[in-house]
Amino acid sequence: MPDSYTLTIVKPDAFGSNKAGKIIAHLEAQGFRVRAARVLHLTKVQAEEFYSVHRERPFFGSLVQFMTSGPCMPLVLEKADAVAALRKAIGATDPKEAEQGTVRQLFAESKERNAIHASDSDENAARESRFFFSESELLAAR
Ligand code: CMP
Repeated sequence: MPDSYTLTIVKPDAFGSNKAGKIIAHLEAQGFRVRAARVLHLTKVQAEEFYSVHRERPFFGSLVQFMTSGPCMPLVLEKADAVAALRKAIGATDPKEAEQGTVRQLFAESKERNAIHASDSDENAARESRFFFSESELLAAR
């Protein structure tokens, strides 16, 4: 299978507690390659737009507050079947339900402060990658 791309974010809980390096090393050890990366502090407007699909959910306000509480680190990752592979590698949303050895089981604090985001489809991976990276950064990744 040819390699494909997905978008991940090391979230403010993990970035702020110096776990970004360990999380990236963990993913690299599973065959993911970093093709683009940056550190930024999301604004409220950006976080609301990124998570707009959850706008009606009861946790939306709290999620936006959390995602704007400190810097985060979006990355484009490459691997065969990248979207599915990364979803499996990060584990369930709630770290209490995440399989042993997954990123969330190892590094997350709670269902909301869950260390990492991963795109849930190729379409969303492309949309979310364009949210954080310019066309030239994405071209360089390919
Ligand atoms: P993520 O995979 O980035 O997608 C949406 C995020 O909303 C999720 O990770 C969690 O950080 C958060 N989230 C999802 N469900 C809940 C919940 N029930 N309570 C609080 N936060 C949640």
